Amino acid sequence: MSRFPELILALAALTAGHALAQGKPAYPNIGRDATQKEVAAWDIDVRPDFKGLPAGSGTVAKGQDVWESKCASCHGIFGESNQVFSPLVGGTTAADIKSGNVARLKDVAYPARTTLMKVSSLSTLWDYINRAMPWTQPKSLTVEEVYSVTAFLLNLGGIVPDNFTLSDQNIREVQARMPNRNGMTLAHSMWPGSEFNANRKPDVQGTACMKDCAVSPRVSSLLPDFARNAHGNLAQQNRDIGAQRGADTSRPEVKGGGATAAPAVVAAAPAPAAAPAPTPDTARPAAAGVDSKAAQALTQKHTCTACHAPASKLVGPSWADIAKKHSGKGDYLAGKIKSGGSGVWGAIPMPPQSLGDADARAIANWLAAGAPK
Ligand code: HEC
Ligand code: HEC
Repeated sequence: MSRFPELILALAALTAGHALAQGKPAYPNIGRDATQKEVAAWDIDVRPDFKGLPAGSGTVAKGQDVWESKCASCHGIFGESNQVFSPLVGGTTAADIKSGNVARLKDVAYPARTTLMKVSSLSTLWDYINRAMPWTQPKSLTVEEVYSVTAFLLNLGGIVPDNFTLSDQNIREVQARMPNRNGMTLAHSMWPGSEFNANRKPDVQGTACMKDCAVSPRVSSLLPDFARNAHGNLAQQNRDIGAQRGADTSRPEVKGGGATAAPAVVAAAPAPAAAPAPTPDTARPAAAGVDSKAAQALTQKHTCTACHAPASKLVGPSWADIAKKHSGKGDYLAGKIKSGGSGVWGAIPMPPQSLGDADARAIANWLAAGAPK
């Protein structure tokens, strides 16, 4: 019996022992070396020179079965694809198979760019199907299934005949028939490594300014007057709640910015010239049963104050204005506080409020009584 296997084992043990004796793992205490099986499981790439292609074969006929059961649902019966997925087959001609350049790639009127039109290396097609398809179950195909379904796609493109068997033995001959095999250029720097392409040039060419360069640009944005209201009033198209409301584009822009720039939108600034708030504390006696302090505390607690202020308009009308308009109408106010609504004071709606009946009623009574301090 040959002593050969033992010899190899002994050598392996010796080398391993040697590495350990060196005592310097590259990343101490981090992980372990990958096993050969693990490396093999990852190392599945097939190169353009077909290095890495596993031995095997598959027929067009078997490929049709694979296609119809595992691929057609997404890519269509003939690889023409439905609306969602890009078409794999179509657009190549017998003339392209001869020339190795797909003429329709240069035809802007042609509606699609299919996989067979673009792919230059058959290894890429094989590799991609092997590693990535079916989309929902990548790496589930056997080697024979990958050969078969690749052969079927090539057959749909008229590259191999119906009775063809694609294999690692004849794949180079088929490569010589790929319609776009001459369509790929390596003469650009997207392609890595000067060993592949010594003359590569950058795709983008520019020179850095080193002297008398322009000062930093001022970025500005400008909406010409004629376009200001092109999409209707932006102020009415924003979400109802929150700080962003957009300009009132139904009016000309007020130059100079500031609070006046967006006039009717949210007059966020207090309007001092507005009708002076009544002075309920002196002018009117507080209605019986109204606890002003408690009611105002409730408007804080339920964050009504985010939108309402005592005497000036915020997002919503001032308490004073509400009190004036709906004097004595406690029931109405209690209902409106809970339901919210729009149109009484303007276009901005008040969202329904989720406070309890008692609290709504207390605030409503306070407002109906003139919103005393
Ligand atoms: C569940 C849907 C689905 C199934 C089933 C499916 N594919 Fe795909 N396929 C896709 C999607 C999506 C892409 C594009 C993926 C991407 O770009 O990341 C794609 C891309 C491809 C491409 C590359 C197209 C290109 O030009 O880049 C090929 C070739 C391909 N599929 C072949 C197959 C084959 C062969 C099968 C059956 C074994 C299959 N697909 C099954 C959804 C599917
Ligand atoms: C997100 C902003 C916002 C919040 C929060 C808010 N409101 Fe309003 N409120 C408004 C707006 C806007 C209006 C004007 C609606 C209209 O024009 O009909 C309004 C109107 C009102 C009115 C008058 C309704 C009418 O029919 O005239 C009352 C009363 C009122 N709010 C009370 C409250 C109370 C009480 C709270 C807290 C529980 C509250 N609001 C919370 C924005 C708000």
